[in-house]
Parts: sequence; C-alpha cells; structure tokens
Amino acid sequence: MNRSFVSIADYSKEEILHLVRRAEYFEQYPNQKVLEGKVCATLFFEPSTRTRLSFETAVNRLGGRVIGFSDAATTSSSKGETLKDTIKMVSNYADLIIMRHYLEGAARYASEITDVPIINAGDGANQHPSQTLLDLYSIYKTQGRLTDLTITMVGDLKYGRTVHSLLTGMSHFNPIFRFVAPEELHLPDIYRQFMDINNIRYYEYTDFSPEVINQSDILYMTRVQRERFTDLVEYEKVKNIYVLTNAMLKGSRDNLRILHPLPRVNEIAQDVDDNPKSYYFEQARNGVYARQAIICNALNLK
Ligand code: CP
Repeated sequence: MNRSFVSIADYSKEEILHLVRRAEYFEQYPNQKVLEGKVCATLFFEPSTRTRLSFETAVNRLGGRVIGFSDAATTSSSKGETLKDTIKMVSNYADLIIMRHYLEGAARYASEITDVPIINAGDGANQHPSQTLLDLYSIYKTQGRLTDLTITMVGDLKYGRTVHSLLTGMSHFNPIFRFVAPEELHLPDIYRQFMDINNIRYYEYTDFSPEVINQSDILYMTRVQRERFTDLVEYEKVKNIYVLTNAMLKGSRDNLRILHPLPRVNEIAQDVDDNPKSYYFEQARNGVYARQAIICNALNLK
C-alpha cells in the first residue's frame, strides 16, 4: 500500500485526530531515532522557507538523512527532464519524497508513478496538506478542541492553497466559516459546493469589519499570492486590500488567536506581533512536530 500524503481530503476524521495526537507526542519527545538508515528527499520546484526547513528539521530530529534541492534551476529539469523521470530517478535513492511543485495535481501524479511515498509540500493553488495538519494542531493547542469553532479566513481565498486544505480538514469538526475576500479573490466554486454538500455553514464578506473579527475564534490571515497572477496589474489592485492592525483586535474574543501560514507581506501590521493573540510564529514551530507525525505515518513507523 502506498502511504503518500497528497491531500487532506484523503483522510478521515479519526486519521486526522490520530495525526494531531502524534504531533502532540513529537512536541513532547522531538528527538526519536526512528529514521536511522532512511533517506528522505526534499524536491522543491517552488521557493520555501518554513515547509522545507521544518521538514528537514523533522527528518534530522528523527535520525534520518536528507537529500534534495531547493532550486530546480540547478537540476536536470532545467535541461528538459520530465517530472516523471525525476521522480523515477529520486525513487532509486530515497525512502520518502517530499515535493513542492507549481503544477496542481503534481503530487498526486508523482504518487501514481512510484512506490516511494510522496508527501505533498504544496501543489500550485491546489492543496498544502502538511500546512493543514500544523494549522489543525495549532487550533487544537490554542482552543483546546477542534469542534464548533468559528474560523475566519481573510485575503487570497482563490489561490491560497492553505485555505483550500484547511477548509477541507476542518470540515469534520462542525465549523462556522467566515470568508473575507475581494470579488477577484473569492473562494473557488468547487469549495462552496463542497461545503454545501457537507452542510457546513459559511458566510462571505468583502469588508474586513470589526463585527467579523469579534465573532471569530480563529483569524486566519493570508498573503495575496503574487506568483499565481498572470496579470500583475490585477495583483497591484488587491495586494494591500486587508491589513490587520492591533487596534482592530480591541473587541475580539479572549480566546481569539491569529494564524497565518506565512510568509507575511503587509497583511498583518508589525504591531500585532506583540499582541498575545498573535500565534503565527508558534504556529510555524508546530510545523516540525506535525511533519514528524506525517513522515512517520508515510513510512508506517510508530
Ligand atoms: N507556509 C509555507 O508554506 O511557507 P513556505 O512557503 O515558506 O514554505
């Protein structure tokens, strides 16, 4: 059985909760030498700071070795080698492949052409399931539960793959979603249909108002994804559309936590960083533990 981690949609509520508990375990015991003798490849066809470095930290803390690249321009893909051939080659060298690619569906495709487990570290504007697991773990840690929460997602809901994945992962836990986006960056119809079919309550806004903030348990801010725009004039129109400032949090719930997958550009003002409700840097640290859980699951390790 191929234990690839391609989309959070492939996982049941019980499987997600199991991974969250495993992340909790790895936070308590991060140094476990269960990957001794294993080689993990990190293939990043798109830039990354957190995802690649936290996956590599996770492998190192588990006692494994890492090979890979962070710039595809230095690899034979720049000479025209196909993704299929690259995956077939790396499968000769590694026990696990962690891949970020600009094409939607690239991770699924890779998982179908090799027996080596593939972990999707982001495929275009589609999914980012390892980010979702760390987001779920962060929500669980800060709220004490995953059920019955109001999650407000703000910014680029069209191209933001972390939004698409988190929405899917949270669907098991009776959420209320509030989506704040300009018309140009609305959530794709496929996700609205998914929520309608699954009886998930959601509300959509173009104004980032105090009413919306004050009804939220989690405020999930996102960056406008410049790299997905074909017309940069369109990007310029929306790039600074929502900026969260400290003053805007005045009437927010005590339990509110502000999450952001990062990198941030302008959408969270620096003065929010010192507010105890900001959680995005801790959220990124949780990525190591969540990814340790994902790696062990993919390799069928305790
Ligand atoms: N959140 C996230 O995917 O960050 P990086 O692009 O830096 O990996």
